[in-house]
Amino acid sequence: MGKTEMPVIQILPSLLASDFGHLAAGCRAAEEAGADALHLDVMDGHFVPNLTMGPDVVRVAHRTVKIPLSVHLMCTHPAVLLDAFLEAGSDLVLVHVEAHDDPHPMLEKIRSKGRRAGVVLNPETPAMAAWDYVEHVDEILLMTVHPGFGGQAFLEHVLPKISEIRDRAPYLDLSVDGGITVETAEAAARAGANAFIAGTSLYRAANMQAEVKAMRARCEKGFAER
Ligand code: DX5
Ligand code: ZN
Repeated sequence: MGKTEMPVIQILPSLLASDFGHLAAGCRAAEEAGADALHLDVMDGHFVPNLTMGPDVVRVAHRTVKIPLSVHLMCTHPAVLLDAFLEAGSDLVLVHVEAHDDPHPMLEKIRSKGRRAGVVLNPETPAMAAWDYVEHVDEILLMTVHPGFGGQAFLEHVLPKISEIRDRAPYLDLSVDGGITVETAEAAARAGANAFIAGTSLYRAANMQAEVKAMRARCEKGFAER
């Protein structure tokens, strides 16, 4: 049986927006700001037109902070990379349903190692693509931009999909990623999201701690009132 507690609001800074010359400092900044976890974007230059981090960056984060590491694999062949990311210290591994590899064996492997597993849906992918996985994941991540780059604008047309998945999975962690600010996070919370991944808006904030606090307060209110 799945979990039956109400989802808790979580704020996750995305390390992609930090200064790559000082990655450990970027990890610490998130932890010191009161983030619930740290999000790391792995891009393979094929599934998306950008190259970012490998397992070594996850290892740096793992030895630098105590908060959980949410690792988002934007890769055409995530299965061949999975062991390396698990060994590096990922706490949650997220795989795209649009990737070449079947998510089911990966989700099973992730959970067999005692880690949390999730699937990710691109903005155009319909909610029904998640139904096969609801029983096999700890989290569903809905992209609210086209993956590949930070700093893009939130796609409002994803909001009904958030509600559709929340109705079907009331207790699952449902996260959103891309263009998340205090305002768009609240809109996503009102639709049913409970975890918020934000790069630019948190790392560019004058005070990340204040921004995390404000985002959390708005999301808690929005989620409770929905
Ligand atoms: C986008 C990545 C995001 C990215 C979000 O492909 O998956 O995690 O870091 O960045 P912002 O918050 O700047 O849109
Ligand atoms: Zn991401």
